[in-house]
Amino acid sequence: MLEVRNLRKVFKGGFVAVDGVSFSVPAGGSLAVVGESGSGKTTCARIVTGLEKATSGTVTLDGTVQMVFQDPYLSLDRRQTVASCLDEVLAHHTRLDRAGRRARTAELLSLVGLDERHGTALPRGLSGGQRQRVAIARALAADPKLLVLDEAVAALDVSIQAQILNLLVDARAATGIGYLFITHDLSVVRHVCEDVVVMSRGTVVESGRVERVLEEPEAAYTRKLIGSVPRPGWVPTRGVSRAG
Ligand SMILES: Nc1ncnc2c1ncn2[C@@H]1O[C@H](COP(=O)(O)OP(=O)(O)O)[C@@H](O)[C@H]1O
Ligand SMILES: [Mg+2]
Repeated sequence: MLEVRNLRKVFKGGFVAVDGVSFSVPAGGSLAVVGESGSGKTTCARIVTGLEKATSGTVTLDGTVQMVFQDPYLSLDRRQTVASCLDEVLAHHTRLDRAGRRARTAELLSLVGLDERHGTALPRGLSGGQRQRVAIARALAADPKLLVLDEAVAALDVSIQAQILNLLVDARAATGIGYLFITHDLSVVRHVCEDVVVMSRGTVVESGRVERVLEEPEAAYTRKLIGSVPRPGWVPTRGVSRAG
C-alpha cells in the first residue's frame, strides 16, 4: 500500500538528512521506523505525508494518509469541543449527513475508548492520553488507508503509553488500517508492528520482522539501541482499554 524507494532529502545548506531509504507497508500492515534522535525518521514521515518534498526517490501510496504527532495539544483547536472537531473532519472527508456524522462521531469516540462525555470536552479538559486518543480518532475520521504515527506515545507516561498502544492494536484489528509507526524507543514496537526498519544517520542499517530484529539483531547499531532500552517490552492486554 505504501512503497518508498531510494528516498533522499538534502536540506538547504547541503545537509543530507535521508539517503537511499527504502521500505514498504502492505495493506493493513504495520511497519516501525526506529532510530535515535536525528536519524531522519520525521523527515521520512513528512515526505510520506506530503508535508516535505523529497530531493529524489519515489513514494507510492495507494489511498490516503493521516498523521498523528507527538503532542496532540499543538494540533487541536483549543476552542473546539472534541465532538465538533470530529464532526468537522467527517463533514470534509465523507458524505454523511448530520445524523450520520453524529453516529459516526460516537463510533469513533468508542473506538478510541472515549464516550459522549469526552465529546463535549475542550482539549484543556482532557489528560495527555485522552488528547492523544482524540488525535487518533480525528485521524481515523478521515478514513485513511495509512496512519503515520510520529513518536505518538513518546510524551506519555509508561502506563498511558501502554493504553494507547493497546488502542492502536485494537483499532488496526477493527479497521484494517495500516501503520507507519515512528519511534526512538524500540521497546514499544513489538506488539504494534510486524516489521521494522532501523535508521541511523539518514540510512537504513537493518530491516526485517520485529521479533527477528529484536531477538537476533544483525547491526551493531541495532544491538546498541536494544541495549539502551532499560525497561522490559510492553505486553498487550485484551480489548480496548478505557481512558484513564
Ligand atoms: N528543515 C530542516 N532544515 C535543516 N535540517 C533539518 C530540517 N529538518 C530536519 N533537519 C535535520 O535532519 C536530521 C534528521 O531530522 P529528523 O528527520 O527530524 O530526525 P528524527 O525524527 O529521527 O529525530 C537532523 O539532523 C535535523 O537537524
Ligand atoms: Mg522525529
